[in-house]
Amino acid sequence: MSSPPQAALPWALALLLAVQLRSREAGAHRAPDPDFQEAYFEQLLDHFNFERFGNRTFRQRFLLSEKFWKRGEGPIFFYTGNEGDVWSFANNSGFILELAAQQGALVVFAEHRYYGKSLPFGERSRCRGYTELLTVEQALADYAGLLRALRQELGAQDAPAIAFGGSYGGMLSAYMRIKYPHLVAGALAASAPVVAVAGLGDPYQFFRDVSADFEGQSPKCAQAVRDAFRQIKDLFLQGAYDAVSQEFGTCSPLSGPGDLTQLFAFARNAFTLLAMMDYPYPTDFVGHLPANPVKVGCDRLLTESQRIKGLRSLAGLVYNSSGMEPCYDIYLQYQVCADPTGCGLGPDAKAWDYQACTEINLTFSSNNVSDIFPDLPFTEALRQQYCLDTWGVWPRQDWLQTSFGGGDLTAASNIIFSNGDLDPWAGGGIQSNLSVSVLAITIHGGAHHLDLRASHPEDPASVVEARRLEATLIGKWVEAARQEQRLRLAQHGGSEAEGCSPSRTTEDLLGA
Ligand SMILES: *[C@@H]1O[C@H](CO)[C@@H](O)[C@H](O)[C@H]1NC(C)=O
Ligand SMILES: *[C@@H]1O[C@H](CO)[C@@H](O)[C@H](O)[C@H]1NC(C)=O
Ligand SMILES: *[C@@H]1O[C@H](CO)[C@@H](O)[C@H](O)[C@H]1NC(C)=O
Ligand SMILES: *[C@@H]1O[C@H](CO)[C@@H](O)[C@H](O)[C@H]1NC(C)=O
Ligand SMILES: *[C@@H]1O[C@H](CO)[C@@H](O)[C@H](O)[C@H]1NC(C)=O
Ligand SMILES: *[C@@H]1O[C@H](CO)[C@@H](O)[C@H](O)[C@H]1NC(C)=O
Repeated sequence: MSSPPQAALPWALALLLAVQLRSREAGAHRAPDPDFQEAYFEQLLDHFNFERFGNRTFRQRFLLSEKFWKRGEGPIFFYTGNEGDVWSFANNSGFILELAAQQGALVVFAEHRYYGKSLPFGERSRCRGYTELLTVEQALADYAGLLRALRQELGAQDAPAIAFGGSYGGMLSAYMRIKYPHLVAGALAASAPVVAVAGLGDPYQFFRDVSADFEGQSPKCAQAVRDAFRQIKDLFLQGAYDAVSQEFGTCSPLSGPGDLTQLFAFARNAFTLLAMMDYPYPTDFVGHLPANPVKVGCDRLLTESQRIKGLRSLAGLVYNSSGMEPCYDIYLQYQVCADPTGCGLGPDAKAWDYQACTEINLTFSSNNVSDIFPDLPFTEALRQQYCLDTWGVWPRQDWLQTSFGGGDLTAASNIIFSNGDLDPWAGGGIQSNLSVSVLAITIHGGAHHLDLRASHPEDPASVVEARRLEATLIGKWVEAARQEQRLRLAQHGGSEAEGCSPSRTTEDLLGA
């Protein structure tokens, strides 16, 4: 393995070359415009081995906004980027900007290695044989190194930093506080499934909770979903593949059990996304969705007199948002991977697949009993086989739990775990207060990290309340960190003063 030669730009030069770019909140909702600068940091390739890659580096992308920063006073808000282009998180986390404006913070959004443009080995990075440096621990060390360098470069050594993140990024923000407490004073971990991903959850929880959203919308809707899947299965059993293909609108004719499983997984994934993205206003975060997509999906399903056609129409919210897809290419538009909640498509999806094959345990199954979906098991044995075939790796038993503690976080401090009760990930996270400063906030009527999004007139009261509490706690952590600095300074100053107390000085002066 070799990395492409990369000019080692000195830090300041990289900043100088940064492009001024503007970002606007998707869905027409305006957090204050941060005027993000896009820049690159010469990041060490391998933080944990001094030999194999020596001191070689790659260019890690990050976004920086000094617009709200009260130098010498305000904190640093550091978003620990997750599995994708860093802009997509910056564009969908308006709350962080609103809070920065309020608290005078410097804002940083750091891109996760192996995603977006932060590629250790260029375009080949996501190919088998080039993924060995993709771990949670390396990503956290990147953030630690970048934060230290930024502090130095910007003359912000004393500014307390708060880590922010949503979903996997939320896990990383919590881990950042756990692993690097001297660097970050606290963390807001929104919709962070730290328990589930450590293999400590109920494997049926995720799809049960997706189902609950549709059941909660209307029991009639949930029943219609079951009926649609049953009809597809029955037609398959009769060998009536063409009927299914025609009614559901697949591009290629279907046949046999492999196609049935793919069709089921393709359809189930639409429900997963509608549930996660069930925001009260239209969004452009994961796909292009209308307000209240669960309700819209159910309306679509129930409007059709034919159940399979109804399922097709519901799935269209995810797979035909342009209204331009004449048919569904079920193998191209949904790709099975080590994450049964979906990896997405393209190279970033491959990086996530690798993570789901190594540290991140997502062995979730649906069973057509506690959920409304067909029986689609994804056991540890299936995962092992898939990961060996795809990446040549074995998932390591319980490693994430060993490394970060799973849900056993009572020894940590200053972490907020927020979860929306509509979000199927909530059940895999921390939902009760673990200590005086490791807190859980529940957002009623909230989908996947709704609290990180910009304020919106359609926001439920619960998220307004949650953000207010988050703002207060973060303000207190920053103030406490400042207070500690002052105390340390005073103690330091005090001990120095001992040798030259005012009385001694006076005596000296008087020549006594
Ligand atoms: C890496 O090591 C070489 C040789 O010791 C040195 O010249 C170079 O400056 C180092 N690069 C970085 C980024 O530290
Ligand atoms: C982020 O927002 C900007 C400005 O609206 C847009 O140009 C860009 O495509 C968005 N990027 C992503 C990844 O969403
Ligand atoms: C992944 O989690 C499941 C429980 O959902 C557990 O049975 C399995 O052992 C875990 N796998 C690893 C490699 O830790
Ligand atoms: C789900 O279970 C019901 C009740 O046992 C059964 O009739 C139906 O065929 C199952 N559906 C699927 C898609 O397997
Ligand atoms: C996609 O939407 C268009 C417009 O509504 C519709 O004509 C087409 O049949 C849809 N495609 C599928 C596969 O349902
Ligand atoms: C945890 O404590 C906070 C602050 O006291 C409180 O607002 C919140 O409701 C508690 N969370 C839970 C899940 O009880």
